[in-house]
Amino acid sequence: MGFFVKTAPVKESAAVPLEEPRFQRLRTELHHKLVEMIDVSKLGHWKQDRLRREVRLVSQQLIDETGEKLLEADRDRLLQELQSEIFGLGPLDKLMGDPTISDILVNGCNQVWVERFGRLEPTTLSFADDAHLMQIIQRIAAKVGRRADEMSPMVDARLSDGSRVNAIIPPLSLEGPVLSIRRFGVRLEAENLLSNGTMPEEALQLLNAAVEARISTLISGGTGSGKTTFLNVLSRYIPRDERLVTIEDAAELRLQQPHVVRLETRPANMEGAGEVRQRELVKNALRMRPDRIIVGEVRGEEALDMLQAMNTGHEGSLATIHANDTRDALTRLEMMVMMAGYEIPIPVVRHYIGSAISLVVQLARLKGGKRRVVRISEIVGLKKNRYCVRHIFAYRQTGVAKGRAIGRFEATGYVPRFLQRLRASGIDLPESLFAARTLSLDNAEEQA
Ligand SMILES: Nc1ncnc2c1ncn2[C@@H]1O[C@H](COP(=O)(O)OP(=O)(O)OP(=O)(O)O)[C@@H](O)[C@H]1O
Ligand SMILES: [Mg+2]
Repeated sequence: MGFFVKTAPVKESAAVPLEEPRFQRLRTELHHKLVEMIDVSKLGHWKQDRLRREVRLVSQQLIDETGEKLLEADRDRLLQELQSEIFGLGPLDKLMGDPTISDILVNGCNQVWVERFGRLEPTTLSFADDAHLMQIIQRIAAKVGRRADEMSPMVDARLSDGSRVNAIIPPLSLEGPVLSIRRFGVRLEAENLLSNGTMPEEALQLLNAAVEARISTLISGGTGSGKTTFLNVLSRYIPRDERLVTIEDAAELRLQQPHVVRLETRPANMEGAGEVRQRELVKNALRMRPDRIIVGEVRGEEALDMLQAMNTGHEGSLATIHANDTRDALTRLEMMVMMAGYEIPIPVVRHYIGSAISLVVQLARLKGGKRRVVRISEIVGLKKNRYCVRHIFAYRQTGVAKGRAIGRFEATGYVPRFLQRLRASGIDLPESLFAARTLSLDNAEEQA
């Protein structure tokens, strides 16, 4: 066969259904044998599909050699899982195929958690041992030219489907190797955010108009509150004839427009050289004749250049920021501007921010896992060196029922000033949209 080193004759015996622990042991045993038999020198030369075929053949042979007469179902599963061990993410492959899972969290070899519909739940999956888990981590790291080891015990990577991965290993992690995967299998669209109660129809109507009319918007929220998802959804409303440049640490945005240039930062290499930061990318983007710049998540000194862009002809730029409320988002932005290292006086920084950002969408992950737009606010500039923040729509939590937050959306009655700018772009939103009232949601369950 060439690729594999040795083979052996087949034995016969009676059929038995396999108990789970026995199945696991058999898989581990066959996996080890399979790895031993692989002639690594051939790995680089063969095409993926040929490799897969060969591994499948030899797996079949190894299964026969065990002398176990397996049920068809057990045998298929064994073959499938051996392929996963060699080419995929081992036990995690099963989860990767489930579109309802949004996060996969592995805390050492014996604990695998998943998040579904905003809630964490344990699974019965496990790895044979920490070495097995490490093997999977190394495979993921290798894809981005990295290795997790003593020298670099933290690794960020991305899977081919766009999922984002972080691994942190001992001695930094005390639980054994820890792997966190944020899936991008589930793609949420505006309609989903309406039907699952993330925001009411009126909010989307306003945001749609604002994005189209180039109102610079900041999407703020805590970890996992749905910022990136929301930015993706809003980006739909950017007219298709604009040139967009996106800047990200790990490319997660999936813009639908035909004219998009995606830029991604680069971490330093093993020798600590070659790092390219978001700030340099924002600066470079400005020389690329963009109509809008989209910063996946603004987190540092690049804030200055981004605001500069927003203030000088690139209105309509979008970004997300990690913050727990609207004012916190603005304060954080100030801190980030300071990080650029120029001694700009605070009033000037504030003026800068106040005139660059017109709209802030605040997201939150409420008790029970629900993601909601909790505020949509206009920044109308500064008064006595303080931001004038006017809430347009707001979510008021009224309590908690069955472990989940309950509440309602309201229009505050405030009519945004940028309505005039919308009109100038030919978008006429009725003022009645903003009349003070409780807003209803599509989904009856959400209103309860
Ligand atoms: N409105 C929503 N309704 C339900 N699930 C959502 C919503 N928004 C996001 N999610 C899910 O929540 C998870 C986190 O989403 P997302 O990556 O957009 O959050 P984030 O705030 O950008 O996170 P991070 O802080 O890690 O950057 C994803 O699995 C996503 O599918
Ligand atoms: Mg994000």
